[in-house]
Amino acid sequence: MKGYMLIAGKKVYTQEEIKILFPYDGSLVGTIPRGKEEDVNLAAESAKVGFEKIKKMTAYERYQCLQRAARIISKRANEFAHLLTLEVGKTIKESMGEVGRAVNTITLSAEEAKRILGEEVPFDAAPGIENKVGFYRRVPLGIIGCITPFNFPLNLTCHKVAPALAAGNSVIIKPSENTSLVVIKLAEVLIEAGFPPEAVNVVTGYGEEAGDALVRSKDVRMITFTGSVETGKIIMSRGGLKKYAMELGSNAGVYIDEDQDYRLKEIAEKVARGGFALAGQVCISVQRVFVHEKLFDTFIEEITAFSKTLKVGDPRKDDTGMGPVIDENAADRIMEWIEEAKSLGAEIVCGGKRISNTLIEPTVVINVPEKAKLFRKEVFGPVIIVNKVSSIKEGINQVNNSPYGLQAGIFTNNLKNAFKFSEEVECGGIMVNEIPTFRVDQMPYGGVKESGIGREGPHFAIEEMTEIKTICFDLG
Ligand code: SIN
Repeated sequence: MKGYMLIAGKKVYTQEEIKILFPYDGSLVGTIPRGKEEDVNLAAESAKVGFEKIKKMTAYERYQCLQRAARIISKRANEFAHLLTLEVGKTIKESMGEVGRAVNTITLSAEEAKRILGEEVPFDAAPGIENKVGFYRRVPLGIIGCITPFNFPLNLTCHKVAPALAAGNSVIIKPSENTSLVVIKLAEVLIEAGFPPEAVNVVTGYGEEAGDALVRSKDVRMITFTGSVETGKIIMSRGGLKKYAMELGSNAGVYIDEDQDYRLKEIAEKVARGGFALAGQVCISVQRVFVHEKLFDTFIEEITAFSKTLKVGDPRKDDTGMGPVIDENAADRIMEWIEEAKSLGAEIVCGGKRISNTLIEPTVVINVPEKAKLFRKEVFGPVIIVNKVSSIKEGINQVNNSPYGLQAGIFTNNLKNAFKFSEEVECGGIMVNEIPTFRVDQMPYGGVKESGIGREGPHFAIEEMTEIKTICFDLG
């Protein structure tokens, strides 16, 4: 499939192309243009026109366009899912799940278009102010640059683009160079659904080229980004005076309390699913598990038994439980981190081997020292570490022992412990009796510490993507 950029609804090609490879076997899926600064400038000119057009649409018209887009994607779910599997390497079941979520995210955004509210300002509440009345409204920012990741290229792009359009902004999307084809399809659907073509632009290419030009563009009022902390920091240092929403990484922790013995099998299975979904390439994958010492040995038996049942292989096959990681470089790094943890005294109780260039066994590592990368950093691969703790206090300290703070989980029946955990753990979201990987698309989603700035979820994203305009009348 030959990809193109989409600028003002026109297909734009470049001499130089980037290859998109199927992560499972390296075969060619398609190509995309290697967009550069001049392409971003063209897209910005288009997006200016797009903003003038979209801001004149009524909320109801924007709602209708988004509803139409959701219906089109729903009808073409198999086609979208197939392409997701080829570009990302996620299993076909995971891809169908992502398409369903994307439809939901667009539908939620459509609904939110109808309730972007302001309120009256009590101007006369200050002494000496008479005859003044007024209110504030939420108005769109203008052009929003959406830089989207490879792991959920469809749904996470929807999380940026659908609220942006719902609020009356125009967008320039710079998708991950690994997974741009599905994003081009999404943009075409949004235009087919009735949005002005100039309001939905896609510039493909590398982060250091097209992405950098987008970040630096003076025409762009906000950058909404999902990706690594390192890139997030570079974006904020280069972008200058703009709004930013940053959904960065994490190495999510979960604590299993001492009273959970009666359902350890169920919890172990949930934890494994949360750590190995999409081969661990989810910002809220379960990475660090802290188990009360009384339950530690049984938990290890259960998680190991379940993890061994996961069939690793070709993501196009229905019975595959876990597919590859995105590319060979990612697999090299993950294997290095496993080896480093081993050399520091950790023990592998399940998996630990590389099956092919990009396939890694679901891996469980125990007794991992704090200085190991597997403990400190975000592994973004199919590796779960499990350490023993002796109390809720130690559980909380260890979950907090991270530069990140996206989501965390606790399993307990002890109300006080659940409350203490939710109060003391520094994260954007706390899941009680659930794994940190839990996300539904309407909830506020985002992190503290190095996990980012701002919240996604259509209602919350619209707050980020609008600004307040105050209007005051003197009636004297
Ligand atoms: C992410 O990886 O940031 C998103 C996770 C999700 O949407 O489930």
